Amino acid sequence: MKKVYIETYGCQMNVADTEIIFSILSRHGWERCESIEEADAVMANTCSIRDNAEQRILGRIDQFVLQRQSRPVIIGILGCMAERMKEKLLDTGKVDIVAGPDTYRRLPELLEAAADGHPQIDVMLSREETYADIAPVRIDRNGVSAFISIMRGCNNVCSYCVVPYTRGAERSRDAHTIVREACDCFAKGYREVTLLGQNVDSYNWEGISFAQLLAMVAEVNPLLRVRFSTSNPQDISDAVIQTMARYPNICHHIHLPVQSGSDRILEKMRRRYTRAWYLERVAKIRELIPDCAISTDVIAGFCSETLEDHADTLSLFEQVGFDAAYMFYYSERPGTLAARKYPDDVPIEEKTRRLNEIISLQNRLSLESNRRDVGKVFEVLVEGPSKKTDRDLCGRTGTNKMCVWTDSVHKSGDYVKVKVLDCTQATLLCQLI
Ligand code: 5AD
Ligand code: SF4
Repeated sequence: MKKVYIETYGCQMNVADTEIIFSILSRHGWERCESIEEADAVMANTCSIRDNAEQRILGRIDQFVLQRQSRPVIIGILGCMAERMKEKLLDTGKVDIVAGPDTYRRLPELLEAAADGHPQIDVMLSREETYADIAPVRIDRNGVSAFISIMRGCNNVCSYCVVPYTRGAERSRDAHTIVREACDCFAKGYREVTLLGQNVDSYNWEGISFAQLLAMVAEVNPLLRVRFSTSNPQDISDAVIQTMARYPNICHHIHLPVQSGSDRILEKMRRRYTRAWYLERVAKIRELIPDCAISTDVIAGFCSETLEDHADTLSLFEQVGFDAAYMFYYSERPGTLAARKYPDDVPIEEKTRRLNEIISLQNRLSLESNRRDVGKVFEVLVEGPSKKTDRDLCGRTGTNKMCVWTDSVHKSGDYVKVKVLDCTQATLLCQLI
């Protein structure tokens, strides 16, 4: 057996893709290995979302290349950067394979041809490919929680975003294969699945909506927790929120990227909602699921953003009181609408300053959110030993908060009840009850 090493960057979708790639390769005489040194092929499954993600990966490729000094090794670039940079990556002379997100079925033949000394590139995007029939080889994260890809691509045209160009048009995966995969996960001991798509609310497979799919997966087993990501504020429907409220095993957490609190900026970003619409959706979620956690993504310093726009973002954060947030400053991506139409005119120092302001605010909001949980009892799914001390276990609440408690009885995959005694900004410190 030849050995392949894959490093995964970017979103959860990429993790799911790497698991599909391992499955495809394992049927063609490749086995997975954990270190570059023993690999016959070294690959990076890459991310293009921001410039610093790409720079980091380009630096890493140089380290891969060093391996070639002592032995033959095939170097492959997969995923979003492969799709965005195409031939430019081959032209560096550093890589042997460039393969976009819809071409992974061809990897065995690309590897074979590259081994004969011919660099290979395939960056064709597909309108149909969902890898529906491929059973992923799980990358063991904790043996408890698995990702299931339910759709690929994206039909939104957010002006800052490269994803529609790197992952192509949106397509939904056969619902029955999704349910089968969830059953299979449960049978293998997984107790949590996260359904993944760029915009899960627009899932539609032969008339089955996302709300219906969510119910189908929730019915696989009451002991299988269901999460999903990512929701779009424009598209999240009452039916989805009602379905979440109906099934106790659908976790009470929604990741709802807002991107900005200013209507003027939202319009320039081509987000198809307003601040008022976003707040109405949050109110609806809290009306139907009072304890639902809400997290978000935000971009500081988008083109033409004024101090007033930035203040609108801060006030929206304060108003919603997010439980968690992923916060970035704007990074212009070549080829996007914003790159073509708007100057990237907020200086980097100012972007950083605004970002830091959002981060400090969110740190306070996260702490406040955790403080509200002190004294409460939660059902937690055990993920394993805590990183800090080995007498402690850790696991998450349905609201996606990390809990730590002392426990010598339970193991990964068990459900336990804990009481929150104290907290930090990142963790609930609990006691087993
Ligand atoms: N610059 C900065 N952040 C971005 N994101 C997407 N595109 C960009 C960009 N060009 C952020 C958005 C998205 C998250 C996955 O990454 O907040 O929700
Ligand atoms: Fe995921 Fe977007 Fe990065 Fe591609 S560019 S890996 S879709 S986060």
